[in-house]
Amino acid sequence: MRTLDGKAVRLRALRSEEHATVHGWYADPEVVAPFDRFVVESFGDFERSLASEEGDPTSLAPRYAVEDRATGRLIGVVGHYRAHPVLEYLDVWYLLGDPAARGRGLGREAVGLLVSELFRTESVERIGAVCDVENVPSFRLLEGLGFRREGTLRSALLHHGRWHDVFTYGVTRAEWADRAPPA
Ligand SMILES: CC(C)(COP(=O)(O)OP(=O)(O)OC[C@H]1O[C@@H](n2cnc3c(N)ncnc32)[C@H](O)[C@@H]1OP(=O)(O)O)[C@@H](O)C(=O)NCCC(=O)NCCS
Repeated sequence: MRTLDGKAVRLRALRSEEHATVHGWYADPEVVAPFDRFVVESFGDFERSLASEEGDPTSLAPRYAVEDRATGRLIGVVGHYRAHPVLEYLDVWYLLGDPAARGRGLGREAVGLLVSELFRTESVERIGAVCDVENVPSFRLLEGLGFRREGTLRSALLHHGRWHDVFTYGVTRAEWADRAPPA
């Protein structure tokens, strides 16, 4: 795995001593629950998913740690997975586990680095993402990167005891190549 450097964040391999922090984020409803499914897996299962993610395109395990370059601190994780058994595209996902790191453009930069790396290394023509229609930071992040809203999947995500609609977003290889360079 390459280390990917942006202006403010670095994407790098997650270190074993950081596994407990990331598992703690996953287990904290305040961090993950507002707009997402909340399923706590055991620490053992989490570690097993990390061990097997490399060879598994469908794995939901984190692929990169997101580090704040100014402080060297771990602030989040990002990942990608093959989202459909037949259609050939990848979906990206992202989590800034440290709430203090949010709202500063770091999430957007991290996802941008990931998308560039995936178009460089994977033979896909489209990269997608899905998010709860109420998750404003998530879809604003995507739109700022040039992802287009392609539609709404109705009643596709179950959390907080009810079904939620989900926006589906995508960007093509050609659109990514043509986008304006980041400011
Ligand atoms: C989604 C997430 C990664 C966004 O990262 P971030 O670094 O905070 O986002 P950025 O600072 O890059 O901002 C992205 C956009 O969202 C907007 N935004 C950020 N926080 C916001 C808020 N609380 N309300 C409304 N808009 C917000 C920003 O203004 C920016 O939009 P703009 O530049 O078009 O104005 C982060 O909030 C997070 O980890 N959330 C919890 C996990 C999650 O929801 N993951 C996505 C699941 S689909």
